[in-house]
Amino acid sequence: MNTQPIGIFDSGIGGTSVFKEIHALLPNENSIYLADSKHAPYGNKSKQEIIALSIKNTEYLLSKNCKLIVVACNTATTNAISYLRKTYDIPFIGIEPAIKPAALNTETKAVGILATKGTLASDLFHQTTDLYSNGIKVIEQVGEGIVPLIEEGKVYSHEMKTLIKGYLQPMINADIDYLVLGCTHYPYLIPLLLELLPKHVKIIDSGLAVAKQTKAILEQNELINTTIKTPENLFYTNTNPTVLNDILERKFKVELLNF
Ligand code: DGL
Repeated sequence: MNTQPIGIFDSGIGGTSVFKEIHALLPNENSIYLADSKHAPYGNKSKQEIIALSIKNTEYLLSKNCKLIVVACNTATTNAISYLRKTYDIPFIGIEPAIKPAALNTETKAVGILATKGTLASDLFHQTTDLYSNGIKVIEQVGEGIVPLIEEGKVYSHEMKTLIKGYLQPMINADIDYLVLGCTHYPYLIPLLLELLPKHVKIIDSGLAVAKQTKAILEQNELINTTIKTPENLFYTNTNPTVLNDILERKFKVELLNF
């Protein structure tokens, strides 16, 4: 059982930011990553569509015998993880915008959150925000257009810079001191965000927390891979693999698959 892979899925290549944290913390684990880039962005789809795509990804990973699934997508987590947990009999780890640490530590009493429309509209996001945002201004911004540009490999484009500048301005005007990244594609924007944000603004991303939670759940369920064989980390995409290969610095095996 323990040599079975960890399954990871995202609407595209963004969840590789989570894979990298998991791989750094659990280098001995086999894994299978599913980039559903053909259906990206999930952020503008209905809850029902997001659930249907999450079921499709889950069933594929289960057919590959995964022992645990990481939903490396805030949009899929906030809209579909409770359904997945109710339906399938393996542990699911999700990712959500880390509003809590930002709200607990802000000194300016203003925090920014950049996420997809689907995440910001979800009940789970509202519940978390209501719980922690007492007395704090939360400036929510839909990152419309960001995911498609990242999927096209245009992280450092002029287009991206113009888009991000426009999204950050209302947050800068509101004097935020924390920016929460609510989408797994966005950590790839950190160099650009640091360039555009005032120096005192801290960026929070949940990737490391997800990796720690994955490790804890594997330990609790006695699912840690204890064999010494070199692990296999496989990547599947349903669109042109070039950008996924680039973002992985060509260190892993990437295959085109029709799913
Ligand atoms: N990486 C996904 C997330 O975390 C992107 C969603 C999308 O495809 O819009 O939300």
